[in-house]
Amino acid sequence: MDQPTPDRSKRQWKFSTFVYFSSILFLLLSIFVLDFTTTDLYKFQSLRFTFTANRIYSYLQFLLGFYNGTPDSNSETVNPGSSTSHCVLWMAPFLSSGGYSSEAWSYILSLRRNLTHPRFRITIEHHGDLESVEFWNGLAKETKELAVELYRTQCRPNETIVVCHSEPGAWYPPLFETLPCPPTGYEDFLSVIGRTMFETDRVNPEHVERCNQMDHVWVPTEFHVSSFVQSGVDSSKVVKIVQPIDVAFFDPSKYEPLDLMAIGDLVLGSKMKNSGLGFVFLSVFKWEQRKGWDVLLKAYLREFSGKESVALFLLTNAYHSDSDFGNKILDFVEELNIEEPRNGYPFVYVIDKHVAQVDLPRLYKAADAFVLPTRGEGWGRPIVEAMAMSLPVIATNWSGPTEYLTEQNGYPLVVEEMSEVEEGPFEGHQWAEPSVDKLRVLMRHVMSNPDEAKVKGKRGRDDMMQKFAPEVVAKVVADQIERIFDEKIRT
Ligand SMILES: *[C@@H]1O[C@H](CO)[C@@H](O)[C@H](O)[C@H]1NC(C)=O
Ligand SMILES: *[C@@H]1O[C@H](CO)[C@@H](O)[C@H](O)[C@H]1NC(C)=O
Ligand SMILES: *[C@@H]1O[C@H](CO)[C@@H](O)[C@H](O)[C@H]1NC(C)=O
Repeated sequence: MDQPTPDRSKRQWKFSTFVYFSSILFLLLSIFVLDFTTTDLYKFQSLRFTFTANRIYSYLQFLLGFYNGTPDSNSETVNPGSSTSHCVLWMAPFLSSGGYSSEAWSYILSLRRNLTHPRFRITIEHHGDLESVEFWNGLAKETKELAVELYRTQCRPNETIVVCHSEPGAWYPPLFETLPCPPTGYEDFLSVIGRTMFETDRVNPEHVERCNQMDHVWVPTEFHVSSFVQSGVDSSKVVKIVQPIDVAFFDPSKYEPLDLMAIGDLVLGSKMKNSGLGFVFLSVFKWEQRKGWDVLLKAYLREFSGKESVALFLLTNAYHSDSDFGNKILDFVEELNIEEPRNGYPFVYVIDKHVAQVDLPRLYKAADAFVLPTRGEGWGRPIVEAMAMSLPVIATNWSGPTEYLTEQNGYPLVVEEMSEVEEGPFEGHQWAEPSVDKLRVLMRHVMSNPDEAKVKGKRGRDDMMQKFAPEVVAKVVADQIERIFDEKIRT
């Protein structure tokens, strides 16, 4: 290969960045592994140094041409497929609580649990967002152990495919402070894949350029394949890789419903009624304009009144805002100028407490229908979770949900109008403007036709199992990766 001789001084600078950021992941991992208290700080620091230095040392040795050990010789646990030197370095915000993190974990877990004959090993690095100790503490023990094991797995760069699973601004060279992906630039690894997605109708020119630096770009839906290609991403690089959903975990037959009244705060509707909740609509979202909470409240408050046996539960959390959602809703209702119905407003509850991942299935189980009139989604994880839990789902038929939501398995909300994104990094792009009137019709319809809704909900779960179960998606991912190895390394 006619690559230019590497400039070692430059490379060493890059590696010092790598060492620095790697040590943050190590710090969290070792808190778990060694179970140190703060009084052990000194011991902890020195171990951290030793461990991190070892890992980086092996990368350095390799790139400078001194490497001659077997790739996994320092690893204490055996990674399935350890007989192969083929490796995937998956870099994602594994230690943060966002959508990229949950997606990355869903791939890692499905590859590990449901791939019967792996032909490559996997190692991970945290990248692309700030680490959260709270998030790390909330992970299942099994997941933490797996993180440690995968983090310790060592790979030769020249036999490694890198997956950069994050927003393109974090890719090499990063636009903000994060461990770059790939860590040392594009030329040292066998192949580099970018996994990303957007919620609007196009991709920014800066992001298009970053996508085109990748060997492959993985996006979750057909919608993204066309919006990326139309925006200028090289069509030969764009591959659709859907997101897995853990249908064994989100299985309605395994759970009893959560007591919603115990965790929700009543915002609208009279407490005096003691007839129970009646029909429960559930929505799950971050508190931002994109999620269409304004459309949802308008439709619900215009369609229903306090004399009906119906309730709306909003599980939400803050997104660049404070978390006084109750007052935000009251202010919004006041601005709307909807006259309070004679029988009062229908119930609106807010759940702003953290609901642990392990309790999510019980939350869905307590609802009769799920509703999210979003303006745009990358994938729409809560929608898919609700479908896996056999709930009838009403969601905007645009962007992510078009990949899995149909009139057979749910209630797609037809989009007739687009609107302009008014603020943030995607200002000026277009996204969907869901219709309040159409949403009213669908919410009324779902409530009045429970048998039909049940059939669609059941079909929703069937479709999730068939198309997005972990073993199905693990195979899709593994096939893509193996194809790249086959192309690059002739055996
Ligand atoms: C996938 O892995 C999960 C967790 O280990 C397991 O419960 C499930 O049965 C597996 N599915 C298949 C088809 O192997
Ligand atoms: C990667 O480098 C190692 C050590 O230099 C070498 O033994 C191995 O054959 C290389 N692998 C490939 C696929 O070139
Ligand atoms: C939803 O959107 C898809 C893709 O644009 C379209 O093919 C489908 O007909 C739409 N479904 C409904 C019910 O509007």
